Amino acid sequence: MAEVTDVQQAARERAYALGLDDINLTELDLWRTDTIWPYFERLRRDDPVHRHPAHHHRDGAFWSVTRFDDIVKIDSNHEVFSSEPSITLDDPLEGFALPMFIAMDPPKHELQRKAVQPIVSGASMASFEPLIRSRIQTTLDRLPIGQPFNWVDSVSIELTAQMLATLFDFPFEDRRKLTYWSDMATAEPDSGAWEPGRYEEQFQEVMTECAAYFTRLWNDRVNAEPKGDLISMLAHGAGTRDMSPEEFLGNLILLIVGGNDTTRNTMSGSVLALDTNPDQRAKLYAAPNLISSMVSETIRWQTPLAYMRRTATRDVEVAGRQIRKGEKLAMWYISGNRDEAVIDRPNQFLIDRPRARHHLSFGFGIHRCLGNRLAELQLTILWEEIIKRFPAIHVNAVEHVPSPFVHGYSKLTVEIPTRF
Ligand code: HEM
Repeated sequence: MAEVTDVQQAARERAYALGLDDINLTELDLWRTDTIWPYFERLRRDDPVHRHPAHHHRDGAFWSVTRFDDIVKIDSNHEVFSSEPSITLDDPLEGFALPMFIAMDPPKHELQRKAVQPIVSGASMASFEPLIRSRIQTTLDRLPIGQPFNWVDSVSIELTAQMLATLFDFPFEDRRKLTYWSDMATAEPDSGAWEPGRYEEQFQEVMTECAAYFTRLWNDRVNAEPKGDLISMLAHGAGTRDMSPEEFLGNLILLIVGGNDTTRNTMSGSVLALDTNPDQRAKLYAAPNLISSMVSETIRWQTPLAYMRRTATRDVEVAGRQIRKGEKLAMWYISGNRDEAVIDRPNQFLIDRPRARHHLSFGFGIHRCLGNRLAELQLTILWEEIIKRFPAIHVNAVEHVPSPFVHGYSKLTVEIPTRF
């Protein structure tokens, strides 16, 4: 524990000693070592709309927006702050663009979003609930007691892969392919996931394999009656049935990544947050009606997608800084969620916060997360079932994903001492 404190203290000293021009929020080591926090704190205080020079990112200069209220203003103004051509700082690969509706502006965005919206209707969610619960029960009942295991793989990845297989009506035995495609779609070029020097080539190989698999499913569904799964919705929807193959692949990647990493990392984050805050764990076990606000608090505290990018469609001023047409902005949700001007004691994990859903993790404007209620439902059922079975889940070791976009855990070694 002393070691962790030393690392955090050294990060704080560096964050305040550096010249503002030398603060680079996309340095992977800051994410790998979970030492990003003081850099955001410094920028919120000293330079809330901060310009990064071109050498900070492989695709050039960008602005970092770190305060809650500025992020809400930008996210609510899609005419000036476009989601095209990409919602990450990476520009689309030359000759291999993946158009997806999260990275489109109206009117096309709305038409395509509408096609898959029924997946999260009240009726659809009610029909998923018993299935989600029984799968969670089976998965939890198989966990070892009194021995260390990796929670990320045994629970978080397993449950989200099962959920995705249901949403797509995807062959259940192949569900880990969904996890693989999702992980590769978001892996940074220098994260260690790719063979050295082969990022672009390998990325295209993996995505082509994903497209080929889904094209078979599309062909089956397009010739059958419409059903309640995402592929059938895309194949029959007025706004999506005539999509190009690239758009089909792009939207698939969106739906796979959207429902995968995010929920997975919230599941892992909830275990870590409750273990490192035993007073909050005791409060939850004493009052299980707090599960739903604990889930929202975890989604804020974790912020599974650290930022979304926008591109200015005209010259515009943001908090006194002049942004030029065509420049990129990263709206750092993860920093807005720790903004002391808006959130009381933002670095604390408090499961009974008033207005627990008042956070930025799902975005804010027309692109606000389509799956937010589904993610909350999965998390709520997970904890309803955990507190019936396990008095505690202790975390022995944590590994963080080296990415400034996906904020999560590659490994969480845990031990469940006993069952009720
Ligand atoms: C805790 C879990 C989740 C988090 C934190 C999360 C976060 C986000 C964020 C930040 C956005 C973009 C908002 C913007 O650009 O303004 C988004 C959009 C989206 N999410 Fe989620 N998400 C989660 C779960 C899910 C799930 C389970 C699904 C699948 C059903 C999903 C599907 C989508 C889709 C399709 C979009 C694009 C919406 C649009 O462009 O209109 N998400 N999500």
